[in-house]
Amino acid sequence: MNSVGIDAVAVHAGKLRLDLAETFAPAMDEDPGKYTKGLGLHASSFPDVEEDIVTMGANAAHKLMERKGLTPEDIGRIDVATESAFDNAKPVSTYIAGCLEEVFEDDFHHANKGERKFACISGTQSLDDAYNWIRAGRHRGRAALVIATDTALYARGDAGEATQGAGAVAMLIAEDPDLVEMSLEQGFGSADETDFLKPNQQFPSVDGKRSVQVYLARMREALADYESVAGQTHPDQFEYIPFHTPFPGMVRKAALFGYRHMIRDTDIEETVATDIGRQPRIEEFDDESQYHDAVREYMDALKETDAYGEWYDRAIEPTLDIARHVGNWYTGSVHVARASALRRAREEDIDMAGKQLLVGSYGSGAQAEIHAETVQENWTDEIDALDIDEQLTERRDITFEEYEEIHDVHNHDKEADIDAFTTPSEEFVRDGPGPMDERTYRYVE
Ligand code: CAA
Repeated sequence: MNSVGIDAVAVHAGKLRLDLAETFAPAMDEDPGKYTKGLGLHASSFPDVEEDIVTMGANAAHKLMERKGLTPEDIGRIDVATESAFDNAKPVSTYIAGCLEEVFEDDFHHANKGERKFACISGTQSLDDAYNWIRAGRHRGRAALVIATDTALYARGDAGEATQGAGAVAMLIAEDPDLVEMSLEQGFGSADETDFLKPNQQFPSVDGKRSVQVYLARMREALADYESVAGQTHPDQFEYIPFHTPFPGMVRKAALFGYRHMIRDTDIEETVATDIGRQPRIEEFDDESQYHDAVREYMDALKETDAYGEWYDRAIEPTLDIARHVGNWYTGSVHVARASALRRAREEDIDMAGKQLLVGSYGSGAQAEIHAETVQENWTDEIDALDIDEQLTERRDITFEEYEEIHDVHNHDKEADIDAFTTPSEEFVRDGPGPMDERTYRYVE
């Protein structure tokens, strides 16, 4: 069996930019440091008036197909991962295929289309579906298009408003991929949780502080489950560790837990032990709360060690470069983190071919998944083709008043009629409602 993985990736960022420190924090009467230092965010990307999950997804997919010289005949399935769907029956993938059929001569009638739901982890689950379809040999030599697209907006006044974002990631999953091969081994941590949900409502109900704890607990389970099939992990084994990134501060917490776990019983634990002692082991304590206190104390000390700092700067920090400027993209977020790391590797001229990534995905509700990826020979062509820097630079900055307007435009319960802030060119945009009040789209030359 040939290797299977991600052959190509393209992104589309919402075309508006809200500066969190300069614009949002003062309007909310908050210290900008909460955003830049605490959450680790500088800006959020927002969809303009004529953008939504379909236009962003179709624009990313169109770019990817054009660049790879693909036609609809080359694609055997289209899966969309989103938690921002506006239709409970017709999947977003059909809307996106309809858009693409406007610009390609052929159609996608032969392609299996679907929509995946499990909060932010459904992007990775769609990769799994495509991987399994190819490995099962049902793909007839064709590739799968996976599109993770979201408008991650929260109700005005919700604490989550600080972490908003909007964008899409399109990925081509194929045999003999050019970017990364996905491992057969994977680990899961899954439990019935109510940390973040949208029971038939547009904006989420979130228990923010609890969601952070649930993320960490499920990620820890997933790592242990991954190790049960792949063997013990070691920090030096992986060049980068892209995590689901609702905000970089979340990854900072997860990375410290992950590092403590990975160095247990290794040379690194012995080296740092001369300064901070060995990790507490539960069997050394009569009382569980004393053990947890000792772990907290150990982690505070571990965070300050050179070994941890150097590992964090090498393996984690590069995964956060893009997230800091776009906010949370829900289903696309972990895939932005992978792209961010590889983009940094390119900037630093690191030869990544054959090197390993450990990818940690998470979805509220809740489930974490961990698998490894091996970077392929042609990865530089794929990363050089990413136009994320141009997109981020071209975004239109919005004032706080404009932010309030655009939030209303995308709020399904409000009527807001304002002109778009940007002028579309060579992209899909929303059009007026169709005869069944459905959303319609057109391509602007
Ligand atoms: N300087 C430096 N740091 C500051 C600061 C300042 N002036 N002011 C605050 N901070 C720090 C705080 O200490 C805190 O850091 P720690 O957690 O390390 O202590 C951080 O900035 C955030 O400050 P608050 O906790 O006061 O912020 P908040 O009350 O507004 O809530 C939140 C933060 C709970 C994450 C909220 O934004 C939220 O609900 N977000 C949505 C839910 C979410 O993203 N959860 C993540 C896990 S769930 C998931 O991953 C799925 C998903 O995509 C949604």
